[in-house]
Amino acid sequence: MADKKFEKNLLCIGAGYVGGPTMTMIAHKCPQYKVTIVDVLPEKIKAWQTDDLPIYEPGLLELIKLCRGKNLFFSTDVETGIKEADIIFISVNTPTKTFGEGAGKSADLQYWEKTARDILRTAESDKIIVERSTLPVKTAIAMERILSLNEKGLKFEVVSNPEFLAEGSAIKDLEKPDRVLIGSKENESGIKARNEIVEIYANWIPRDRLITSNLMSSELSKLVANSFLAQRISSINSISALCEKVDAEISEVAHAIGKDSRIGDKFLNASVGFGGSCFKKDILNLVYLCETFGLNEVAAYWESIVKMNEYQTSRFVQTINKAMFNTLTNKRIAVFGFAFKANTSDTRETAALYVTQKLMMEKAHVVISDPKAIKNAKNDLKNYGDDIEFQEDPYKAAKSAHAIALITEWDLYKTLDYTKIYHEMEKPAFIFDGRNILDHEKLYKIGFEVYPIGKAPLIHFKEG
Ligand SMILES: NC(=O)c1ccc[n+]([C@@H]2O[C@H](COP(=O)([O-])OP(=O)(O)OC[C@H]3O[C@@H](n4cnc5c(N)ncnc54)[C@H](O)[C@@H]3O)[C@@H](O)[C@H]2O)c1
Repeated sequence: MADKKFEKNLLCIGAGYVGGPTMTMIAHKCPQYKVTIVDVLPEKIKAWQTDDLPIYEPGLLELIKLCRGKNLFFSTDVETGIKEADIIFISVNTPTKTFGEGAGKSADLQYWEKTARDILRTAESDKIIVERSTLPVKTAIAMERILSLNEKGLKFEVVSNPEFLAEGSAIKDLEKPDRVLIGSKENESGIKARNEIVEIYANWIPRDRLITSNLMSSELSKLVANSFLAQRISSINSISALCEKVDAEISEVAHAIGKDSRIGDKFLNASVGFGGSCFKKDILNLVYLCETFGLNEVAAYWESIVKMNEYQTSRFVQTINKAMFNTLTNKRIAVFGFAFKANTSDTRETAALYVTQKLMMEKAHVVISDPKAIKNAKNDLKNYGDDIEFQEDPYKAAKSAHAIALITEWDLYKTLDYTKIYHEMEKPAFIFDGRNILDHEKLYKIGFEVYPIGKAPLIHFKEG
């Protein structure tokens, strides 16, 4: 039921890290469409209506300001949104299930199914439903089955359009995506619906980047893309452990292998381990899918990517402990960066949480610093009450600290005055660079005991 001023009404259910940026980009590029984003959380919707957005993403606020109130609207009124929409994008959360069958691996589809039932109950006209959340293969078919139960004679066509954006560079990724994937049933009505979605993206994306496929290939491709990306990280991290033993340098190895065009140089930075709401969840989803079909060797192969990641993060904490004479009790440790990566406020599955918890178990005095994620960090660590200190300013965080543990690769940390920091720290002053972004030689010359990843430490005294 398009508003007469607009060609089409697009609704997005779920105003999170995907729904917010992706629909803002559509609104920006397609002024002929009315775009409404709804969510069940009133405080989140309220924040989207201000300049203090619920998520930090570079360039997002500027884009929102261009369209908000013109063809971009935020609301909690899911029912009206559904009634008015021609096309419904669904980007609700699909976390890993924590209970019952498939607990710890399969996706929790409760939010997904609730939206299906909301649509079934409320819709008064035919609609195209666009699956934007990352979901197990065949979920689109299941949704269509639920929707076909309507007694109003309505027709719903479900297409899969997984999102490949990376948080921190979402606006750039959405403006110039490597590809947009749209899967549908390959019958007449499925292809017609798919083409309607293709036409939306064709407003700004070259046609050769708009890929179409069948429904299941589309759903599976999203899980596989994230699993391959995570696999690259675990592969280089596994080699970083070996580098530390044989006096090789992971950055030199990564550079040498990355020059091979068959391998390529992206995603070869060794680190404390990957975080974020997607990689682990999507790999485990793939693992569960394989197990369901009795493909146990395939499942074990992909599960090892997650295990390697956990190993890498725990290795980082072990290094801290060992370097600092096997006792962290009452030692002030500044954690530089709590976001799971740079340029986002998102802390879901961040390595920093694991590191902090382990440091707390050792009775360290932990100080968290981050330019954008302090609010989320406070929430994640609320069980510790006042035992954890939060200091947005890294200089204050590091003052009188025994060590700095750098977890997030914020540019800010590359340009700090480490001489000043060194002089205000306890000695020996340790720095553990979980992202290999600092100038290790320079830090060593200043006086730090420097522990990179995948490279021998630079230390002024030899351990016992
Ligand atoms: N975050 C990413 O970088 C990313 C990238 C690609 C794909 N994905 C996938 O996209 C989906 C969403 O991820 P996200 O990071 O945006 O999650 P999110 O938690 O940031 O946002 C989801 C939103 O959906 C809302 N919601 C849940 N049930 C609802 C309902 N019934 N009605 C209305 N709103 C409802 C929640 O309140 C929440 O605000 C997930 O499946 C995720 O795997 C995420």
